[in-house]
Order: sequence, then structure tokens, then C-alpha cells
Amino acid sequence: MIKLLILGPTGIMGKLIGELALKDDEIEVVAACDVNNIGEELGGLLAVNDKNKIKISDVNYLQKVVNETKPDVAVDFTVAKATEKNCKICVENGIKCVIGTTAMTQDFLDEFKSLVKTKNAPAVISPNMATGVNILFKMAAILTKYLNDWDIEIIETHHNRKQDNFSGTSLKILDTICEALEVKKEDITKYGRTKGKGLREKGAKNEIGIHCVRAGDIVGEHKILYAGSGEYIELKHTAINRNCFATGAIRAIKFIAKQKENKIYEMKDVLNL
Ligand SMILES: NC(=O)c1ccc[n+]([C@@H]2O[C@H](COP(=O)([O-])OP(=O)(O)OC[C@H]3O[C@@H](n4cnc5c(N)ncnc54)[C@H](O)[C@@H]3O)[C@@H](O)[C@H]2O)c1
Repeated sequence: MIKLLILGPTGIMGKLIGELALKDDEIEVVAACDVNNIGEELGGLLAVNDKNKIKISDVNYLQKVVNETKPDVAVDFTVAKATEKNCKICVENGIKCVIGTTAMTQDFLDEFKSLVKTKNAPAVISPNMATGVNILFKMAAILTKYLNDWDIEIIETHHNRKQDNFSGTSLKILDTICEALEVKKEDITKYGRTKGKGLREKGAKNEIGIHCVRAGDIVGEHKILYAGSGEYIELKHTAINRNCFATGAIRAIKFIAKQKENKIYEMKDVLNL
């Protein structure tokens, strides 16, 4: 049985993951910490039977919760600032983390990577836990190799509540494409196009555009446009609902519970792609 701590159980993603985890025979939810709904029963909030009758704890007392409940794995879908504080506490206590939150700083990621090694606590970090998106990353790498003299643009669309621009997924697509082109992203990326002359030099090795749209309640769409002369190809993933992320997070929890090598894994490892 995997003893699980949920960070952010009252959020949209946290609720979905909590529901799946409480219904899963291989997982025992031992704690849930948030800044909201403190003292409320998790099972009641999610309308799922919880034999342990876990109450949501104040995340400010995370160390105490960890001491009392001794989780094996923590799953975090919150906000970057909270993740940077709370997942550091978890890894310092030897807890394996599954982090879905986006927009953490590079400084945090560097520090977290070394803690994973010294504290013997491997982790999964992925900006997008959907199976289809991780296959899209793979396909983008292949397509880019064939179409390296075409124009390439990345367009992402999300709901108007999204806190970060550009999405973690679109930045990962950018990294994947730049790696395939063997170019430095700092040299060629154009973040949006503003007013004025929009002339560009032809070909992705000169410039890659990345654009974001924020509207309504759109769950998430990522499109890569490969445009040549007189033809174009679109590679597109659409998340219809958030179940694809939540089921991915549960797979990541089960995967990381078994890992012994102290490193940060990605979803491609979880999915064996
Ligand atoms: N990796 C993926 O597959 C994936 C998919 C969807 C969303 N996300 C990311 O997950 C994150 C959460 O998304 P959401 O739509 O569920 O957001 P949300 O706003 O609905 O939920 C955020 C949760 O974090 C909680 N929170 C805030 N501060 C906290 C703190 N200090 N400690 C603990 N909890 C705290 C809030 O109370 C809330 O429960 C975002 O970064 C989003 O980009 C990742």
C-alpha cells in the first residue's frame, strides 16, 4: 500500500486526484494539506468514502503532519510558490514527490534535484501528465528533424484562470523542438508577436514563435504548426477534461513508489515511451 500525502486537495486537480486515490486499492491517503477547507473531511468534500476519515490539515504545519503520518509519496498540484516550499519539506523528509504544478523557478529545480540525490527520494516532475501530450512531445521531435527548414510556431490555449504564461507544456514543446534542431532556445524564440514589422527570416533555425491564448474554461490545447511552401502540418493535442492529467498523476504515484534510482523522472519514463 502506498501511503499518500495530497498537497492542494481542494483545487481542481487536487480534488480529481483525491477522488481517484481514495478509490484505488494500491493507495492509502494518509494526509491532505491545503490553505483552504482546513478541518473539513476529505471524503466529505469529494463525496467519496474515506475509511481513514482524513481531515484537511493546515499546510503551515506540514512538518508535523509528515512526522505523524509518514507518507511514502506526496502529490502536488498547487501554485509554484507553495510547491517550492512544501515539496522541499517533503524531499528533506525522504518523501518521494510527484509534482504537476507548473512555473517553478530554475533555482528551485536545481536545489530540488540535489536534494533528491542526497535524501534518497526520487521524484516525478511533469508539466503535463496526459498520455497524449507526452506522445505529442515524441512526435514533435521526429517531425522537427524532417521539417527543420520549415517555419515552426507553437500556439497554446487555456482557460482564463491560468496563472502562468506560457504554459509549462508549451515550454517543454519548445525545448523538445530546439533540442531536435540543435539550437539554443535563447537565440531563436519569439515570445508572441507585437505591433510593428512582423518580418521574419524563414526557417525554424532562425526563429520559433510561441503564442498563448487565455479564454473561457478551455481545459488546454497545444498546437505545433509546421509551415512550408504551399503546405502545412498541424500537430495538435486537446484536453477535453482534466481526467487525463489526474489518471497520469496516479500512474506517476505508483511508478515513483517503486523507483530506487535517486533522480528526477519525467512522464515519458512513467509511460515507458
Ligand atoms: N502537470 C499536469 O498535468 C497539470 C494539469 C493541470 C494543471 N496543472 C498545474 O497544476 C496546478 C494547479 O492547477 P489547478 O487548476 O488545480 O489550480 P487550482 O487553483 O484549482 O488549485 C490550486 C490548489 O492549491 C492550493 N494552495 C494554494 N496555496 C497553497 C499552499 N501554500 N499549500 C498548499 N496548497 C495550496 C489551493 O487552495 C488549491 O487547492 C497549476 O500549476 C497548473 O498549471 C498541471
